[in-house]
Amino acid sequence: LSLRLHGDTLARPGALDFATCLWPAPPPAALIDALARGLEECARYPDERSARERIAARHGRQPEEVLLLNGACEAFWLLAHALRPLRTACVHPSFTEPEAALRAVGTEVVRVSLDPDSWQLDPSRIPDEAELVAIGNPNNPTGTLTPAATLASIARPARRLVVDESFIELTEEPQASLAARPDLPGLIVVRSITKLYGLAGIRAGYLLGEPPLVAELAAQRQPWSVNTLACRALAVCAADPATPRRLAAEVAAARAELLGALCARPGLRAWPSAANFLLLRVDDVSDLADALADEGIAVRPAASFPGLDERYIRVAVRPPADNAQLLAALDAVLMR
Ligand SMILES: Cc1ncc(COP(=O)(O)O)c(C=O)c1O
Repeated sequence: LSLRLHGDTLARPGALDFATCLWPAPPPAALIDALARGLEECARYPDERSARERIAARHGRQPEEVLLLNGACEAFWLLAHALRPLRTACVHPSFTEPEAALRAVGTEVVRVSLDPDSWQLDPSRIPDEAELVAIGNPNNPTGTLTPAATLASIARPARRLVVDESFIELTEEPQASLAARPDLPGLIVVRSITKLYGLAGIRAGYLLGEPPLVAELAAQRQPWSVNTLACRALAVCAADPATPRRLAAEVAAARAELLGALCARPGLRAWPSAANFLLLRVDDVSDLADALADEGIAVRPAASFPGLDERYIRVAVRPPADNAQLLAALDAVLMR
């Protein structure tokens, strides 16, 4: 199954979309304003400075430690092409783009499996010789958070440790972030604003790393790869701690209710998650995603995540009224 499959291509027209992990909140007024101002500036080339400065200030870092990205996903492709490491490790099941990018440049990728009962990481399973290690925190699709101390123990001077924190602002545990840890050797923290702010189509993210690495990555790509709207959005979101806090609390409440309801369904296992999605396993229904699609609900079949199979699906956590529709559809399918 393809490492390049993503939830965005899966929803049938008109379906309620639990396949993509976006929380459907209207963008804050300051963000709309920033995008409108960005549109007025589109005749000029993009200017990254303000976004880099504000992102640096937010994380207690220097602007030289910040690289703006055309979406978090660009980090994995840029790192693979610029660094071309020989031996790497990807923690799975997880977002598959890091492995896809590393394989595209001919790197040897060792898959390190999370424990299939708890989805926790045993750091001793990461091969010593891995020059680059990719891990998600919180991890997609399991929703697990790895404690900062465990991640810190994986860092080595001769290794790039790539921690994808694209969903961390949707958790209520921002202390799990390594964004403010320039002391950890080789650490690269990847962030996205496309999930929290519903900006998947604008493409906007950034990474934090040592200044020489940031300079090397910038030297390996075309100029102006992050557009004016993305620069504007990144600058305004970096100065907005209130929206993540508010949305993370809304997500947590909706998630607790949905998880409780799912766990009460016989034949279905759901794991606790720190993020705005849940991993489910249903052993007795072979075509669960198709059957839910027939009920008007799009979910993400999870068999393309290394380590999972046809029994698993991932569902987004959406506002309670939507989640009720998911539960009703699941009941209809499970009682067939
Ligand atoms: C874990 C994870 N990281 C990164 C991305 C990509 O984020 P962006 O839209 O910022 O490229 C996704 C998208 O689904 C994801 O699931």
